Amino acid sequence: MDKLKDKVAIITGGAGGIGKGMAMAFVKEGAKVVIVDLNEETGNEAVKELQQYQPESMFIQANLAEHDKLKRIVDQVVAQHGKLNILVNNAHASKNKPFVETTREDLDLSFDTGFYPTFYLMQAAIPHLKETNGSIINFASGAGIQGHAKQAAYAAAKEAIRGMTRVAANEFGKDGINVNLIAPIANSPGVQQWAKEQPEYYQEVVSNIPMQRFGELEEDIGPAAVFLASDDSNYITGQTINVDGGSVKF
Ligand SMILES: NC(=O)c1ccc[n+]([C@@H]2O[C@H](COP(=O)([O-])OP(=O)(O)OC[C@H]3O[C@@H](n4cnc5c(N)ncnc54)[C@H](O)[C@@H]3O)[C@@H](O)[C@H]2O)c1
Repeated sequence: MDKLKDKVAIITGGAGGIGKGMAMAFVKEGAKVVIVDLNEETGNEAVKELQQYQPESMFIQANLAEHDKLKRIVDQVVAQHGKLNILVNNAHASKNKPFVETTREDLDLSFDTGFYPTFYLMQAAIPHLKETNGSIINFASGAGIQGHAKQAAYAAAKEAIRGMTRVAANEFGKDGINVNLIAPIANSPGVQQWAKEQPEYYQEVVSNIPMQRFGELEEDIGPAAVFLASDDSNYITGQTINVDGGSVKF
């Protein structure tokens, strides 16, 4: 239960969904977790749960689309805990629309909440991760890898994140930093929302998952994230790990 003992981790979007699942898995392995999220109410609730396992867990309320404030988040965490070992860029907001109806605004939402925060937080974190031989976990999606219909804005930002991740893996391997991606499928509130809006599409998606179910937030995605954040994965970098019940085969 101490694979991440005393490691300091930032998890964006950690107040709910996969982010909270990973945060719970991390504190149970001994990490000090800082969740960063837009939602103050769920953030305050989540941090109380985390503190039951790790009293030094923190919640920072922030809108990741405010890019000029992102470096301050990293600075605040390092000032509080003295170091940073793990950065998990998990939060991402986007809208699904037919390709020809996708607007600049839709592209901006996806890039402003997904790609740019990942980029700026990596830039701010890397000097500290060099000190700790730390880890970065970014978030990809089968929607980007396979090019799911009606997800142009989302898929574009996700694949931009994958490209940048591979570049960072090449640039910072010599510093002992590993940079990987998780492409998940999991039953988050975001997924539950679109399941309500498009129940037939949801059923179709489930029937196309070889394991015939959405993953569990903490039990299925959590252990993969713990592995990529722990010393067990020190020689793995630049990879996309599909934690998706077998949906993506390449
Ligand atoms: N759930 C899936 O099946 C699935 C599939 C493929 C990829 N993903 C990816 O996994 C990651 C997590 O997905 P999820 O389903 O748990 O998401 P979610 O929508 O359920 O939760 C996202 C969290 O991010 C926070 N957030 C959203 N916008 C923010 C902003 N501007 N600033 C700060 N916080 C913000 C939300 O408040 C929420 O707590 C995302 O990168 C997503 O694209 C998820």
